[in-house]
Amino acid sequence: MWLYLVALMGLYYLVRWYRERQVVSHLQDKYVFITGCGSGFGNLLARQLDMHGMRVLAACRTEKAAEQLRAQASDRLETVTLDVTKTDGITAATQWVKERVGDRGLWGLVNNAGIYGPSAPNEWLTKQDFVTTLDVNLLGMIEVTLSLLPLVRKARGRVVNVSSVGGRLSAAGGGYSISKYGVEAFSDSLRRELAPFGVKVAIIEPGFFKTNMSNTERVLLQVQEVWDRAPPEIKEIYGEKYLASYLKLLSEHILPTCNENLSEVTDCMEHALTACHPRTRYSAGWDAKLLYLPISYMPTSLVETVVSWVLPRPAKAL
Ligand SMILES: *[C@@H]1O[C@H](CO)[C@@H](O)[C@H](O)[C@H]1NC(C)=O
Ligand SMILES: *[C@@H]1O[C@H](CO)[C@@H](O)[C@H](O)[C@H]1NC(C)=O
Ligand SMILES: *[C@@H]1O[C@H](CO)[C@@H](O)[C@H](O)[C@H]1NC(C)=O
Repeated sequence: MWLYLVALMGLYYLVRWYRERQVVSHLQDKYVFITGCGSGFGNLLARQLDMHGMRVLAACRTEKAAEQLRAQASDRLETVTLDVTKTDGITAATQWVKERVGDRGLWGLVNNAGIYGPSAPNEWLTKQDFVTTLDVNLLGMIEVTLSLLPLVRKARGRVVNVSSVGGRLSAAGGGYSISKYGVEAFSDSLRRELAPFGVKVAIIEPGFFKTNMSNTERVLLQVQEVWDRAPPEIKEIYGEKYLASYLKLLSEHILPTCNENLSEVTDCMEHALTACHPRTRYSAGWDAKLLYLPISYMPTSLVETVVSWVLPRPAKAL
């Protein structure tokens, strides 16, 4: 009995392994548009796909970052400056892409641009803190997708969105997890919508990685800033000790464990773009696979217990 089960599992993995290693043909004629190429995953992915012969159209927020990227890549790679919160910029970038891809359409769209924003108890924050994060991570992504979708459909291509383990488990306050839950929420509807057109969609869920977003100094500074401007009653309820423990948790236990091998994420992205049978979800990083995603499947009450062990207690807690 057990032997059959093991054999069956083995067979399943063998078939999956075989299916997953089939690569689409003519990669050198395929265009991929990536947002957020100034640093981090976007930057590495742009160089990686360029090296593997694909035609990369890389969007960076600043011209300086675009210049640096061009200097590190082949002549095939082209750049455009784009702030995903600006409608005019998105329209212009779409026109720019259209001129390049012509009748072939756009094979891949990678929605990678994102910011972290202040991550602190929700009560310390203002509406604007949420707006800033959602504008880039969610609304920017939606507008870029809507604008480029006709070109992707033409190529029967792929949409790859970068979500996060934060899109499955919301442990800290702030706009980040909300934006990533939003990205996840769109996925099922878009996937079904686009299936009849042969367009495949994939989500990447990385754990904590060392990128510009997880820059320790800035993450801590942002928490300190929202604390400093929080109303006196909030400061009284939470207390300076809470702030100190919270900063310590971030600086000693969370940020130093960030994975430095960004290839673990860009390899998932490349698979989503080049495999004949891409997955719908990719988790990247051991923390995502072994910690955050398993936790996210646990019953809520158990998750609460785990999270409350980790987070400090407010001074005026009952
Ligand atoms: C990607 O993000 C866009 C914008 O949020 C959304 O419309 C789309 O459904 C998402 N696709 C996937 C696969 O997550
Ligand atoms: C890093 O992030 C900060 C804040 O989001 C931003 O101002 C800066 O331009 C980013 N740097 C790069 C290289 O993307
Ligand atoms: C980084 O990750 C890639 C992909 O998972 C792996 O092939 C490579 O060996 C890793 N590099 C290091 C230095 O761990």
